[in-house]
Amino acid sequence: MKAAYFEKFGGPEVLQYGDVPDPVAAADEVVVDVAAASVNAADWKFRGGEYARHAQVKFPQIPGRDFSGTVASIGAGVGDLKVGDAVFGVLAAGREGTYCEKIAVAAAIVAKKPDRLSHVHAAALALTGLTAIDTLENTLKLRRGETILIQGGAGGVAGFAIQLAKHLGARVVTTTSAANIDYVRGLGADEVVDYNAQDFAKAVKDCDAVFDTVGGAVAQKSFAVLKPGGRAAFIASGAQAPQPARSDVTALRPPVPRTRKAMERVAELYLTGAVRPPEIKLYRLSQAAAAHRLSEGRHFRGKLVFQVR
Ligand SMILES: NC(=O)c1ccc[n+]([C@@H]2O[C@H](COP(=O)([O-])OP(=O)(O)OC[C@H]3O[C@@H](n4cnc5c(N)ncnc54)[C@H](OP(=O)(O)O)[C@@H]3O)[C@@H](O)[C@H]2O)c1
Repeated sequence: MKAAYFEKFGGPEVLQYGDVPDPVAAADEVVVDVAAASVNAADWKFRGGEYARHAQVKFPQIPGRDFSGTVASIGAGVGDLKVGDAVFGVLAAGREGTYCEKIAVAAAIVAKKPDRLSHVHAAALALTGLTAIDTLENTLKLRRGETILIQGGAGGVAGFAIQLAKHLGARVVTTTSAANIDYVRGLGADEVVDYNAQDFAKAVKDCDAVFDTVGGAVAQKSFAVLKPGGRAAFIASGAQAPQPARSDVTALRPPVPRTRKAMERVAELYLTGAVRPPEIKLYRLSQAAAAHRLSEGRHFRGKLVFQVR
């Protein structure tokens, strides 16, 4: 099969396009003919060597975590999926490798893709949706009437999170650059802070919750906008949440477990109209290096998606 892969960790230039062996379904796995896979920030961090200690690396290594496609074969013990089913999902934590034509994945963490949801949109919503749902619903337990600051509103995870937070009945404040203000308003943000024109830590206050998708100094400063008793969740600061200098707020690191139930929740939110797909820029697998350069620049909006077939 064709794949985008790398033989050593490094910059986008290490990505190659070519032939690799087809996967075989082990017990409890299905092989999926991949129709689309999306670019996530984790992919270029992995390619650069950031997760080398944690992931099961085997060169040539294919990056990529989420996918949408069609079940092509079934391993022993799989009873709830059949050849020809359209499915989407996210590989198990620590596994990488969806930038290719075929993947083997545990059947238990794959969900059926609704007919109305295209493969491109399903791939775009898979890891972003899983992460936003686990953060807002399970970790922050966001409630109707609360105010949440979502950092990095034009990004993949944050774009889903803005819509989900509105659906849950929260008031949403978000940060973005001037170029993306209309975009995040279109997703439903009630208040938008242009982070180049204003210091969010001064412009925003009395939030019940923060969802930080930016990391670094932005993450650390985010505690300032919380009211006493507030909670903050961090997904761009590594495996541990940054610790607040104040003692009256809580810092949380969502675990983001891969489950079929969570993927079904993504599908449900799409089908009920609560969440619509982000702006998409399409690539071929042979253009993986270009897609990584854009993603790594951190200033595009929506999602970059490989249309595989
Ligand atoms: N399971 C997990 O723990 C998990 C899952 C998914 C993602 N993540 C992590 O979460 C982070 C976000 O992922 P993603 O895929 O959603 O990111 P992304 O789509 O790559 O985010 C890019 C966006 O970030 C915005 N941005 C950059 N700097 C900003 C700043 N200082 N303030 C506000 N917005 C800023 C940019 O908007 P402008 O151009 O307007 O600046 C751009 O739209 C990554 O670090 C990723 O590794 C973790």
